[in-house]
Amino acid sequence: MSTLNIAIIGAGGITLQNHLPGLALCPDVRVHALCDANPATLEAARTQTGAPVAETSWEKVVTRDDVHAVIIATPNFLHPDIAITAARHGKHVLCEKPLALNATDAQRMADEADRAGVRHMTAFTYRFVPAMRYLRHLIDQGELGTPYHYRCLRLQDWGTRNLGWRQVRKLAGTGEIGDMLSHRINFAHHLVGPMTRLVANLRNLTPVRDGAPNDTDDWVAILAEFSTGTTGVLESSKLASGHNESWRSLDYVELNGSAGTFQFTTGKWNELQSGKLGGPGLKPLMVPKEFWVWPGSPRDPGVGDPLVSFRYDQAVEFINAIREQRPSAITFHDGAATQRVMDAAVRSAESGQWVEV
Ligand SMILES: NC(=O)c1ccc[n+]([C@@H]2O[C@H](COP(=O)([O-])OP(=O)(O)OC[C@H]3O[C@@H](n4cnc5c(N)ncnc54)[C@H](O)[C@@H]3O)[C@@H](O)[C@H]2O)c1
Repeated sequence: MSTLNIAIIGAGGITLQNHLPGLALCPDVRVHALCDANPATLEAARTQTGAPVAETSWEKVVTRDDVHAVIIATPNFLHPDIAITAARHGKHVLCEKPLALNATDAQRMADEADRAGVRHMTAFTYRFVPAMRYLRHLIDQGELGTPYHYRCLRLQDWGTRNLGWRQVRKLAGTGEIGDMLSHRINFAHHLVGPMTRLVANLRNLTPVRDGAPNDTDDWVAILAEFSTGTTGVLESSKLASGHNESWRSLDYVELNGSAGTFQFTTGKWNELQSGKLGGPGLKPLMVPKEFWVWPGSPRDPGVGDPLVSFRYDQAVEFINAIREQRPSAITFHDGAATQRVMDAAVRSAESGQWVEV
């Protein structure tokens, strides 16, 4: 196929912010079909994209013969049914995180997509941050040595704003752990290896948000062990007052190893802090230009806000995986591995015990 016809299911925030501009970078790709349950949202996206097909039923869209690949950007509870139906109809699938409401469903998505022989990808968007990719490269070069500690912190200020479906457990699965920490669990797996056991705490400090009930966690902390023997400390909160709500708020990752330390914040997309064993302290380390865009991406890193535009490389990777007939860089199996950690964290918070992942 020369032109790839894409269907997008869910035309809300993330579709407009990430998926459409990302697809616009990809040659010979057309947004062919759109689906949203909300007719007004659907019409706005149809007008913006000029997509010839617009439907409120996702079943009608993902079963069409003229759709080659599907992007799923709906509330979380819908992801498994849409992804599995699409895969069974031979469509390649990029699905938003968290993949599902539990690890069993997430693994089923991965297995069904493999069985169907389609390309599949989990939208762990922050894997496209240039500093993150350079950090992985430095680890491969042995600059970290043996990894001792993984540490991450995601702090946002959402106050008591209504979060819509995100604050309803049966639609979202979890709160902060799925919404924000899932990305950082995936970083941890990518940088250090699989988590093996953990103890976690979750807290709902705002049972009512702007007059509507919230039965999800606003805060999560995990103390973890990895198969490599590395320790992990992960914390994420929507209630870090004063920190700002957007992507400009704190998103920090630090690794300490036998040879040195590396640290980055997403806010400084092209800079790490680094220090060598026994050295005077951390100092800035600029990310070389060859890491500023994802391999194969035509994106000009000088165009637009670099804190936003790195995200567009995600669509490029999905499309290139389809064209090059290879697994994507972040498959559904990665999404399922993250979901196993999330499930373990919920179990641990309920029991107050260490649990195996
Ligand atoms: N990768 C990232 O960095 C990132 C960032 C934000 C959101 N997300 C994920 O993207 C997904 C969507 O989040 P969002 O912020 O865009 O939410 P949103 O509420 O802005 O958009 C979701 C859209 O799905 C539509 N929808 C609901 N039910 C539907 C159905 N049955 N069929 C078709 N459409 C339906 C809604 O009308 C809405 O327009 C979630 O899974 C979220 O976790 C990921």
